[in-house]
Amino acid sequence: MARLQGKVAFITGGGGGIGAATAMLFAGEGAGLALVDRDAAAAETAASEVRRRFPSADVLPVAADLSDEAETRRVVDAAAARFGGLDILVNVAGIRVYGPLAEADAGSWDSILAINLMATVHCCKAVVPLLRSRGRGSIVNVSSVFGVAGRAGMGQYDVTKAAVVSLSRTLAIEEVEHGIRVNAVCPGPTITPYHIARAKARGVSEEELRRTGAQHTLMKRWAEPREVACAILYLAGDESSFVTGTALVVDGGASAAAGGSS
Ligand SMILES: NC(=O)c1ccc[n+]([C@@H]2O[C@H](COP(=O)([O-])OP(=O)(O)OC[C@H]3O[C@@H](n4cnc5c(N)ncnc54)[C@H](O)[C@@H]3O)[C@@H](O)[C@H]2O)c1
Repeated sequence: MARLQGKVAFITGGGGGIGAATAMLFAGEGAGLALVDRDAAAAETAASEVRRRFPSADVLPVAADLSDEAETRRVVDAAAARFGGLDILVNVAGIRVYGPLAEADAGSWDSILAINLMATVHCCKAVVPLLRSRGRGSIVNVSSVFGVAGRAGMGQYDVTKAAVVSLSRTLAIEEVEHGIRVNAVCPGPTITPYHIARAKARGVSEEELRRTGAQHTLMKRWAEPREVACAILYLAGDESSFVTGTALVVDGGASAAAGGSS
């Protein structure tokens, strides 16, 4: 029996690397899917790829800016009406801001908080009543290993990802009585089209990026998006029925070693 047979998942950032990999994995496990992204073409492409691989998959691409609460409620309700309810919410949508905290301006704080934190908040708020009405459901929020560990250079992003871990924990405590589980996944370096395009823009090929990047992980490599999607699948499905309020680190062991040796 497929792990998500008969279930419907609402996946944000469904047009991006980890979101599209999650959609592909979920479709293979029998889930119906709403793939939501502010990039309409990316959501369409991800949905077509899923349909090409799994012709019987029920996939709905949706264009929406999830930093807008009213728009989020509208697309959540439309997806629930289209599929006859929702069982799973996966919050993957996110952006990055680079630079030291001492130089961070209010505008960049507003934009990264609006997406990385508030889009997740809006989606949870819109979906929770639907899950409560069924007495069950699973929410998986994508944070980052830098939501639980520190580094220099991406402080604004890391703050939002720490907030996502806290949000997931508190929501898990508050919603357990309604049968809703809430967990976070904290990926380490994952080689998505975003990173490949960013490297290319500074003259670094994908091959070189794969060879030289992610050397701080114990495994000395990047994760493939599917490896993160597998952790999301575990938390979304019934195999994690006794897991809630946790943050699952998927970082090739990068955070296990404090650095140095004796
Ligand atoms: N790739 C990594 O190394 C890595 C590591 C740790 C955490 N993460 C997190 O995983 C998630 C996905 O990462 P990715 O590398 O696949 O990124 P990505 O940029 O490919 O995907 C993010 C998607 O979110 C969408 N999005 C952004 N703002 C939106 C909005 N307001 N409304 C709707 N959609 C919006 C984008 O259009 C994009 O398709 C992000 O939250 C990221 O922070 C990624």
